[in-house]
Amino acid sequence: MSFRAIVLIFATLCLCETLSSISAQTASTMVNSGQRPVVLVTNKETPEKGINKLKLKADVIFPKSHPATREEVLELAGQVDGIMWVGHMPLNGEVLDRGGSRLKAISTMSAGMDYVDVEEFRKRKFPLGYTPIVLNDAVADSAIGLMIAAGRRYHEGRLAIDQSQWTGGPQWLLGQDIKGSTVGIIGLGGIGQTIAKRLKGFDIGQLLYTGRRPKPEAEALGAKLVPQDELLQESDYVFITVPLTNETRHMINESTLAKMKPTAVLVNVARGDIVDQRALVAALKNGTIFAAGLDVVSPEPLPADDELLRLPNAVVIPHLGSATVQTRNNMAEIAALNVLAGIAGTPMFSPYPY
Ligand code: DGY
Repeated sequence: MSFRAIVLIFATLCLCETLSSISAQTASTMVNSGQRPVVLVTNKETPEKGINKLKLKADVIFPKSHPATREEVLELAGQVDGIMWVGHMPLNGEVLDRGGSRLKAISTMSAGMDYVDVEEFRKRKFPLGYTPIVLNDAVADSAIGLMIAAGRRYHEGRLAIDQSQWTGGPQWLLGQDIKGSTVGIIGLGGIGQTIAKRLKGFDIGQLLYTGRRPKPEAEALGAKLVPQDELLQESDYVFITVPLTNETRHMINESTLAKMKPTAVLVNVARGDIVDQRALVAALKNGTIFAAGLDVVSPEPLPADDELLRLPNAVVIPHLGSATVQTRNNMAEIAALNVLAGIAGTPMFSPYPY
């Protein structure tokens, strides 16, 4: 069984309890005795659970400013043994250079690593951790929420109330059904699979997915691997759950949107730049597709005057996929364990596989 599979089972079965118990043991053995290491946590609002894990074996410092400026983080990088990198500020060779020989390990508190120059870490063999898997449930829940909100025109309905346009009637604000629908998941990774599990309760008709190769988990989920064009043409709901890479940037654009059904709903819980947002706005305005549910947009934060926010058929929320108390606590604890393990020169709990 692969390391990732072991981590997945572990995380799913008993993450919270296990983390509490293993962290005390692991932390007590993994950092060498002598002077306590110092860890920089780049965001003051990082959940206390993670900070407390760090404090078992390290002194913790924070930038003075909130949100931290890059210059401040770079300056502090040279004064610490490890960094818990919280937020999506670019993490690259500049940070490692400024960290110098004292800096031993960094962990992000995220699953997506599009803001990290992973190649630079790989070249330097620098210990890098991240926090995938533990957020799959929270993000999948959010994706299902967006599917329903967009497909059933919740935003449009709310706007009608606000504008005293509540007319009602048998033909008013009719949306799309989920039962019997064809659902397409672009990228059947951890989050995609968790969405697929939830969909089992919705009696969908067919589940399609795209990917470079068949996923062993697909069979149990009843998911069929198809070319992307087929998925776009056939699906009533399209979920985007792939990482943002050079390959996936603007994967959904004018020409791919044109392949979708006019009744289709697009849900994006991955990264905003996977979608060409201008093309999406046009597609939502001219009826190329029915609606979109977006947890992620471009840029983030999205300016309040962005055209996307004026569209009744776009449900837009501000990158809340992993934003539950438990999930963020778990992410912070895993990131803390990663950093402590990296400083001690032992394997991280959740190393990034570069
Ligand atoms: C992630 O972990 O990548 C989520 O998008 C939150 O940052």
